Amino acid sequence: MEAPVTDKTIETFESIEELSRCAAELFTAETELAVARHGRFSVALSGGSTPGQLYCLLSTEKYRMRIDWERVHIFWTDERCVPPNHPDSNFKLASDLLLSKLSLPNSNIHRIPGELSEEKAALAYEKDLLCFFSPSVIPRFDLIFLGVGQDGHTASIFPGTIAADTSAGLAIPVHANKLGWHRVTLSYAVLNCAATVAFLVAGKAKASVVRDILEGKNQILPASRVHPERGRTLWFLDRDAASLLKNRNI
Ligand code: 6PG
Repeated sequence: MEAPVTDKTIETFESIEELSRCAAELFTAETELAVARHGRFSVALSGGSTPGQLYCLLSTEKYRMRIDWERVHIFWTDERCVPPNHPDSNFKLASDLLLSKLSLPNSNIHRIPGELSEEKAALAYEKDLLCFFSPSVIPRFDLIFLGVGQDGHTASIFPGTIAADTSAGLAIPVHANKLGWHRVTLSYAVLNCAATVAFLVAGKAKASVVRDILEGKNQILPASRVHPERGRTLWFLDRDAASLLKNRNI
């Protein structure tokens, strides 16, 4: 039975450590559910600084033993067009903190080839998505982790870019030479097809954008437009990021 259409669920935590522990428990629970339901678990990881503690936690003995990693397929929500060993690479972030500690089969790691141009990398990633999920439907991830920038971007869907104005395509090239952006991002179509999307947001600097997204009138910010029709959207906030919300439960 597919998840009913639900609105956003907001969970607030005293600290990013507590937020990360809950996110690790979510990852574990969703893996168990997905493997029981369809024999594998597909998850898309985001970049940035917030998910780092989650990735470290998942690499610890506790989670290494609890999760059936052979059934886990790792994707990314977006990537910068840099080599996989570049300090800006989202692949490198997850590889250093998590994947290097596991013995996942290479076929379970679906890297966005950031060493290519954004156009070629998007095409290659889209091919991988269609091959893994199905050539005829929009990929439905079991779980997608997302962050939010102070400008309201999520993944690499930035305000005012083509990716922000289209729900076409699966993997979209993002370029803004003036800002040095050469990236690839999952599209709204894929983000909004997920069974579960979990935003992980921490820090005082995000308080106003979190308020605008969760309680604001203007739902035009990219992160505002991510809410799967047939899934659930979780917002995991630390105390600081939730500090401007009227309805916060801490
Ligand atoms: C990226 C991320 C991006 C990130 C936000 C929040 O490639 O940079 O996917 O969307 O999630 O910018 O980043 P922080 O977690 O560092 O605040």
